[in-house]
Amino acid sequence: MAIYQATTSAPVNIACIKYWGKRDTTLILPTNSSLSVTLSQDHLRSTTTSQADPSFKETRLWLNGKEEDIKSGGRLERCLKELKKMRKERIEDKDHNAPKLSEWNIHVASYNNFPTAAGLASSASGFAALTSSIAALYDLNNFSPSSSAKPSAASPSELSLVARLGSGSACRSLFGGFVAWEAGSLPSGTDSLAVQVAPQEHWPTLHALICVVNDAKKGTSSTSGMQRTVETSALLQHRIKEVVPQRMDAIIKAIKEKDFDTFAKITTADSNQFHAVALDTAPPIFYMNDVSRSIISIIEELNRVSLLNTGHLVAAYTFDAGPNAVIYTEEKNVKQIIELVLRYFPQAESNPFPDPFQLFGGKQPAGTT
Ligand code: DP6
Repeated sequence: MAIYQATTSAPVNIACIKYWGKRDTTLILPTNSSLSVTLSQDHLRSTTTSQADPSFKETRLWLNGKEEDIKSGGRLERCLKELKKMRKERIEDKDHNAPKLSEWNIHVASYNNFPTAAGLASSASGFAALTSSIAALYDLNNFSPSSSAKPSAASPSELSLVARLGSGSACRSLFGGFVAWEAGSLPSGTDSLAVQVAPQEHWPTLHALICVVNDAKKGTSSTSGMQRTVETSALLQHRIKEVVPQRMDAIIKAIKEKDFDTFAKITTADSNQFHAVALDTAPPIFYMNDVSRSIISIIEELNRVSLLNTGHLVAAYTFDAGPNAVIYTEEKNVKQIIELVLRYFPQAESNPFPDPFQLFGGKQPAGTT
């Protein structure tokens, strides 16, 4: 008897231009476009296995080995419904011998290879891995840009439309490298999708250093926080109309030209504006803490001195909906930044990442002991 099963994985992505605000909360349509860098496959990622079988009595989900409830009409159900529709229309309606997988219940098991307690967003990698795993199960994702692509295949951008229904930022994790989520304008959301700006190999010397400041679960979730911002912040309207469109164009150009100075300037400015918008929310939302702010001061000072001495910036910091910092820097500066951060913040016993160098492509920068 045939076993219908597929396993795929998707990495975490870190936004340089932040998504913050929805114009449609059900379809998860954003108020502005955003841009992120997907971390490389071997580091922070979710791996998902899905199985379909006519004997399954219900659809079930396990996260890190623990069974979770599937909320009726919730995000997972919406993703699944879309994927079933694609399977039915593209395969089962065309080939009557194809097994009717879209009518069977499925079992889904997902694991994160990073400590869930580390306070790092796992919904992006989680929903991206879930979407690609079910797409593979349904034989939808044998996409190839060449003419030999199967007629049933769904492109990563098409699958990003589905992952978006799970969590907005998840649509960007369908691609590696540098990824834009185009906000789109259609009420249906069919133009609100992710596209790759450049593959990872385009700029292999760019690294992301993840500094876990606090591994507690965040106080205000992204989902509820951003809605409160949409309802109350005047600054958000300025950001949507006047700031983000120019920044998107400028950062895409900087990435294409591997212009680190411009990339860093825009990334730090956008992180700071996102946190300003959170503060402009009523009641205000504070995601950063004193350690986060110290990291900002250290990097700003490092950049100030470097600008004086070399005319160039060394690093860019960015913070999501929590106190943890992500520092972007080029390979030649990785050692200096790690040493600086470790000097100011000696590592606690409970550090979930005991070897910070593991986060840099798994190899220590030259000359590091
Ligand atoms: C600050 O994608 O987690 O990380 O769409 O409600 O699931 P939902 O929100 P989510 O928000 C991410 C917000 C952010 C910025 C970003 O990743 O662009």
